[in-house]
Amino acid sequence: MNTGEQETRDQVRALLRWQLEAGADEAIGLHPVDRFNVSAAIETLTPRRIAPTAAATASAPFVTPQAVTASAREIAAACHDLASLRQAMENFQGCALKTTAKHTVFADGNAKARVMLVGEAPGRDEDLQGLPFVGRSGQLLDRMLAAIGLDRNQVYISNILPWRPPGNRTPTSAEIALCLPFIERHIQLAAPDLLLLLGGISVKALFSTSEGIMRLRGRWKPYQAGEREIPALATFHPAFLLRQPAQKKQAWQDLLALRVRLDSLPVNELQVN
Ligand code: URA
Repeated sequence: MNTGEQETRDQVRALLRWQLEAGADEAIGLHPVDRFNVSAAIETLTPRRIAPTAAATASAPFVTPQAVTASAREIAAACHDLASLRQAMENFQGCALKTTAKHTVFADGNAKARVMLVGEAPGRDEDLQGLPFVGRSGQLLDRMLAAIGLDRNQVYISNILPWRPPGNRTPTSAEIALCLPFIERHIQLAAPDLLLLLGGISVKALFSTSEGIMRLRGRWKPYQAGEREIPALATFHPAFLLRQPAQKKQAWQDLLALRVRLDSLPVNELQVN
């Protein structure tokens, strides 16, 4: 190696070190992507890989975010059990987040549970393990559940987004809209008796509201899952509680409300909690 090459290497190393110190913890793609231009991002990251569907081809000559969302909705609607939904999501190529994620994080816990929890999106640990809520906020969630006598086998857990946003950034509204058909179908197929929505993104997405979690938490609202109405309670996200432990008091009230509602459900032979 000549001196010029060595200098270039040293410069590249110094640049990488600087990025690590600035908080970048992974390389996320070979090609630069303009994430402010969602349709261009989708086309850049998934060239010719989005299966055209009737809705997609009818609505646009090129792939728009709306067409990809319509395609996700058609694909999700065609799934009649959780296994086929999981497979369809694993095959889906319409979301740019999937190209940087290591796993499609589908669900954990017991699909027959009476309570389904819906969080925001996988973080780093969840992406590595392919399971929701296994990192620090998951550990707090386990303790919160234990406080009302539940464990992971007595609830079913999923997220609005099945793919980790790079660097745990907040998902964009286009990404949420694109993934929404999958979690909506997921809830219909799991058909829980009660929903616990963890954090603002979850409640805003499922109720398509712009109200904040501070106002929405602690209130039961019927969630329309296809033909069924499911009582849904919003509470703080465990990651928020890790940052703001003073809010645990409110979350505790929400958990108690969940326990009371759970105990008031009619007994069913398949029940797991
Ligand atoms: N936060 C979430 O909302 N979901 C996870 O799975 C992990 C952290």
